[in-house]
Amino acid sequence: MKKTDLEALLKDMSLEEKIMQLVQVPGSMFEEDAALTGLSDKETLDKFKALAGSTLSIYGVEKLRKIQEEYIANHPHHIPLLFMLDVIHGHKTVMPCPLAQGATFDPEVARNGAKVQAKEAAADGVHVTFSPMADLVRDARWGRVVESTGEDAYLNGKMTASMVEGYQGEDISDPNHVAACVKHFAAYGGSMAGRDYTDVELSEGTLRSQYLPAYEEAIGAGAKLVMTSFNTLNGIPSSGNKWLMRDVLRKDYKFDGVLISDWGAIAEMVNWGFAEEFKDAAAKAMDAGVDIDMCTEVYGGNLAALIKEGKISEDLLDEAVMRVLTLKNDLGLFEDPYHGATKERFDSVVLSEENRAVALDAVRKSLVLLENKNKALPLKKDEKIAFIGPYADNIDLRSSWAISSNPETTVTIKQAAEEAFGKDKEIRFSNGCQLLDNDTVLGFEPYHSDTWEEDNNKLMEEAMETAKWADTVVMCLGEHVFQSGESTSRVDIRIPAVQIELLKKVKEKGKKIITLLFTGRPLVLDDIPEMSDALMICWRPGTEGGHGIMDVLLGEVSPSGKLPMSFPWSVGQEPLNYNCFKTGRPKPTEGNTMFTSRYLDCPNEARYPFGYGLTYSEFEISKCELDKEVLKKSDKADKITATVTVKNVGDVDASQTVQLYIRDMAGSRVRPVRELKGFKRVFLKAKEETKVSFEIKEELIRFWTINNAYESEEGTFEVFIRFDSMTQNSEATSFRLE
Ligand code: BGC
Repeated sequence: MKKTDLEALLKDMSLEEKIMQLVQVPGSMFEEDAALTGLSDKETLDKFKALAGSTLSIYGVEKLRKIQEEYIANHPHHIPLLFMLDVIHGHKTVMPCPLAQGATFDPEVARNGAKVQAKEAAADGVHVTFSPMADLVRDARWGRVVESTGEDAYLNGKMTASMVEGYQGEDISDPNHVAACVKHFAAYGGSMAGRDYTDVELSEGTLRSQYLPAYEEAIGAGAKLVMTSFNTLNGIPSSGNKWLMRDVLRKDYKFDGVLISDWGAIAEMVNWGFAEEFKDAAAKAMDAGVDIDMCTEVYGGNLAALIKEGKISEDLLDEAVMRVLTLKNDLGLFEDPYHGATKERFDSVVLSEENRAVALDAVRKSLVLLENKNKALPLKKDEKIAFIGPYADNIDLRSSWAISSNPETTVTIKQAAEEAFGKDKEIRFSNGCQLLDNDTVLGFEPYHSDTWEEDNNKLMEEAMETAKWADTVVMCLGEHVFQSGESTSRVDIRIPAVQIELLKKVKEKGKKIITLLFTGRPLVLDDIPEMSDALMICWRPGTEGGHGIMDVLLGEVSPSGKLPMSFPWSVGQEPLNYNCFKTGRPKPTEGNTMFTSRYLDCPNEARYPFGYGLTYSEFEISKCELDKEVLKKSDKADKITATVTVKNVGDVDASQTVQLYIRDMAGSRVRPVRELKGFKRVFLKAKEETKVSFEIKEELIRFWTINNAYESEEGTFEVFIRFDSMTQNSEATSFRLE
């Protein structure tokens, strides 16, 4: 539809019709048993069902086609309904969770995964995905870290921008693509003490330098929607934060797409005590520029009165409605309200070999090897190998955010091991113990089993027999799928105690132990590293989890993942991030630490830092060479090239991620000890070497200065090129910005 036609349409719509474009209703309203939708009465329900502009959390091509057909036929202007869904890391083919994708340090993995997700979801009738989540996360207690790509603004920006490009392609009217929604704006990951839906207190310097850049980059990649967050930011709930939404989002980032609230977030401004009642909340959210109210009656029930009373102008309403209509138009829904989704198309695209190959590649690159004593891995095919633990044959390798997929399609560890070893080789499996301690509180409801003890004893006994037989035991342990995700904050970020007990018992048998950990967050590992000959973080690896893990265990590919979030020694260190400040009293590396910034009972640093991960080979890195010592501030095109030679000095072909960190030695606000400013994955055959270069331009070293501007400051900058954020593989060198 042409812009002028859209404008004519808007003009012709009644006030009620326009308001209803800004209302999103739960998909359950369109299901047969639409009794429980949270709406106050039958009349409202009927009106919302007939006129609401969008719906969410519903999928299935035939069902959605039918809903769309009926909806359009009854709508006064035959405007199509928008279908939105949380396709976070997979619709049917499930990619590793976003945190695992962060571990690949490979934006192509994110882009390819998003393309698959878009193709499958679009074929199933979905138009918009509530992804990517660009929230910077520093606190492993917060369950939603599983949905983020980690603790670093630069990494998050690259990964989430690639996701947006993958979801949207060149043109969202293409039936292979969907519109992306960047969330949760803003700083949701900074929630106090790791608790969900709570307050965030951040200085503008930290907000602008650390928390906002990834949203900006993802929005800059062309995202069609942005979602507000549940938290307050310095006392103001995001859905009513005019400065954040109008000045930062619309003006600074030039975002002209649809701004949608998170689920019920406008209504929650009343709970926060920021609005007196729903009408007040509606006025505040409209004023702040929130276009769509997700799943409440706040807009639907109050905007008409607010306009009549002159508290909200109809122009403001029209602007918001126009943005929603434009999104529908960009998706091509006025021409094809089904966006190309048919049953045939769905059957041909979902879970295809091609899609599974993308997921497999992502798993292989996301696994992070933390320990490998005496080259315990890869497994040798002539060993007697047993797989023990609740993840040895578990179909739920997804995160709690792969809601539309079917776990039955997952390749488990057992299935992949049987395929890899073939019929002639005996391998044994045992579930080992219960996955959860009895009476564990989970996201939805507490887990309880009356026969927990008895069942566990049986599992443990069988596991001991299996362990006795084996030379090497691969322990398949981890969190429950509902121990991370939304509303799953925890102060104890260890795996369930029963699994530790199992590990200890197997260890007593004196066998070689390879520990695999399935997790949606960094964990406190206690003595798991000591008890294990090798230790690998497998995250929530998704549909191709079993295959990818087996490929790495058997050495078909070397592990190459790097931690996207620091793993602490103790939960007491959280929040924890590598790019902290030095402080006025830095802890010395040796000697007396009294009156310095430190814990009495724990190191300051992470146990396994950001960027860390082993391969099956060994690498060396030369001193970093800069092609010149001075970068000209006035010349935006000026650049310094930093180069190192990286050599695979081991006997195994492997990929390594070379990471560029920069430290601004002094600034008008104190600067982090180092910040990631570039990364490159290189694949090197054994004994092969290559030069790796990074370009440093002025824009790379900008931050939120004392002038309240995102700019660079003259001075000295140290450059480190390394294989993780902490280990000094090569000497630092420096340049000046003048
Ligand atoms: C979450 C969002 C999600 C939305 C819709 C909310 O509870 O915070 O991330 O997109 O629900 O399902």
